[in-house]
Amino acid sequence: MVSKDKLKEIILENRKFILHSVRRIVEREAGRFPEGVNKVKVLYGVRRSGKTFVLYNLFRNSKDESLYIDFEDERLTDFGLGGFEVLMEAFLELYPYLLNKRKRVLLDEIQNIAGWEKFCRRVTEREDVDVFVAGSSSKIMPQEIHTSLRGRAWSMEITPFSFREYLRAKGVDVNKSSIYGPEKILVKGHFGDYLRWGGFPEIIFARSEFDKSKILKEYLGSIFFRDLVERFKINNIPLLDTMMASVFSLFSQKFSLNSFYKQYKDKLPFSKDSLFAYYKYFLESMLIFEVRKFTESVYKRMRNPAKIYLVDPGLARREASQDLGRLLENIVFLELRKRTDKIYYFEEEKECDFVIVKDGRFSAYQVCYELSEENRERKIDGLVLCCRQLEEKKGFILTFDQEEEINKEEIEIKIIPVWKWLVTFV
Ligand SMILES: Nc1ncnc2c1ncn2[C@@H]1O[C@H](COP(=O)(O)OP(=O)(O)O)[C@@H](O)[C@H]1O
Ligand SMILES: [Mg+2]
Repeated sequence: MVSKDKLKEIILENRKFILHSVRRIVEREAGRFPEGVNKVKVLYGVRRSGKTFVLYNLFRNSKDESLYIDFEDERLTDFGLGGFEVLMEAFLELYPYLLNKRKRVLLDEIQNIAGWEKFCRRVTEREDVDVFVAGSSSKIMPQEIHTSLRGRAWSMEITPFSFREYLRAKGVDVNKSSIYGPEKILVKGHFGDYLRWGGFPEIIFARSEFDKSKILKEYLGSIFFRDLVERFKINNIPLLDTMMASVFSLFSQKFSLNSFYKQYKDKLPFSKDSLFAYYKYFLESMLIFEVRKFTESVYKRMRNPAKIYLVDPGLARREASQDLGRLLENIVFLELRKRTDKIYYFEEEKECDFVIVKDGRFSAYQVCYELSEENRERKIDGLVLCCRQLEEKKGFILTFDQEEEINKEEIEIKIIPVWKWLVTFV
């Protein structure tokens, strides 16, 4: 077991680092937790999305009551379950004024300590400790969280930056006037970058495109080896590799495991079982999300192929001809996902990209990089049909830069650029 003195040294070192070495921390939208909730707060999400920085920010906001420990620290490899007791003692010996006072404990990469749930639950319920844990492992994601924490955890996903957070990081004041004033050009320029490179915080701060590509390549490598191969003990590497390439290039489209099977069954050795299992791992790791067809029947919904979206546009596989329309659609999906978990695609005689249900109301969205003579009628008619079926009087077409309001068959259609929609919350 690690010694108390060693722990004290680490606690003080972390404190100094967070308070003095970490430079600017951009305030996150998801980083606000309800006060006084007697639950273990669990931050999960894809690697490099900013979970550790949310913990740093929580530390800074309450620096005289906080303890931060990172279980990736190699000095803590033999921490063990008994380590928690020693850790709390070390903390209180350093800050004796906290005895019988409220304390904030921030535990990073917690999945490295087996049995952490028991400690967190106990101190949350019996002692005056506000516990936050973070990690990238699917082990701490809501669907897998240990039964001993069920109902006692408050889970929160930390995703890469939204466009609003991106603007904040760039020092652009996100308020309505900036959209009409001289800052409009600036916001549009930033959106072009966001569309191509996505919202991973390190990407936003990278200086050159060369650095950005390099960082993203490194992320893809760690996602592949650490988040998929190691975590799920994958043995058919060529299959995973082919699937990842396929999934990350078919974003904003339907992905059918059967077509994948047909396409590759003679080229690669693999079983249908591993194909299904690996696909599930992508979903479990929250690297991709599925959107199902809008229908009343659950059976039909599951029978129809799902459309898939990536957790960040930066992960999209870049080929020679980049499909900006699909990236735009992916960004719209990510925003809708923040608003509701009921998102579908509409596909009858005509199509509409998204139907969402929020607070018992439907809304329909069509996404289109540019409305042109060639696609205008199709896009509008799809939206109109969708709105009629939903008995909604209003629908949206989200574009890169076009703006207009039209009326068709008594449906009011608002055509609006995605960047504007993202900053004005319509
Ligand atoms: N809120 C933020 N403000 C400024 N930079 C951030 C912020 N969040 C993340 N970053 C940058 O992104 C990097 C990765 O974030 P981190 O918090 O380590 O991700 P995670 O813990 O989810 O893997 C950080 O080292 C930092 O450079
Ligand atoms: Mg981290």
